[in-house]
Amino acid sequence: MKTITKKLILLASGDGSNVENIIKYFKNTPNIEVVLVAGNNKNAYVFERVEPFNIETLVFTKSYFNNKFVNIIELYHPDLIILAGFLWKIPELWINKYPNKIINIHPSLLPSFGGKGMYGSNVHEAVINSKVKKTGISIHIVNKEYDEGNIIFQAEINVLIEDTPESIARRVQILEKEHFPRVIKEYLFKIE
Ligand code: GRF
Repeated sequence: MKTITKKLILLASGDGSNVENIIKYFKNTPNIEVVLVAGNNKNAYVFERVEPFNIETLVFTKSYFNNKFVNIIELYHPDLIILAGFLWKIPELWINKYPNKIINIHPSLLPSFGGKGMYGSNVHEAVINSKVKKTGISIHIVNKEYDEGNIIFQAEINVLIEDTPESIARRVQILEKEHFPRVIKEYLFKIE
């Protein structure tokens, strides 16, 4: 029986710790391959992290992203496009072209603390200010509104009295590393 390799495209614009974690996880997984890592910030640390892995990278401007980039993506025949620390809104054209095939990870329990401007420590500060008892991570399908697509997976942690945005960020990052690659893998075979 012929096995078909599933292809992943990762979009990131920052530190890239999730990108590195995903690449390492799938490096030795047969039939799943990261084919491209792309982002809008050529100085982002993510591109240094990717260097040792011999994976194609691409840096785009806003207008390239909104217009031409979708044609490049098409050449890779991706099974899944993964936003791992990517902040720009995904053009509607992509969403129509890749229905249920673009996913994002968000560092809160959506629908709480999502939407435009809700990223990084802004999220964790809002969590602390609102005095909720739990926060966590959400992995969701991307639709045309920020952080509003169907949720695929959530994992939670307790918010402690002594928590700061930094301490929450640290525990949230641990959750991300623990779950994101596995959820990607399971989702890939679900949408088959
Ligand atoms: C993660 O916390 C993720 O939830 C959010 O952006 C952050 C990216 O971190 N979407 P990194 O660049 O992978 O280290």
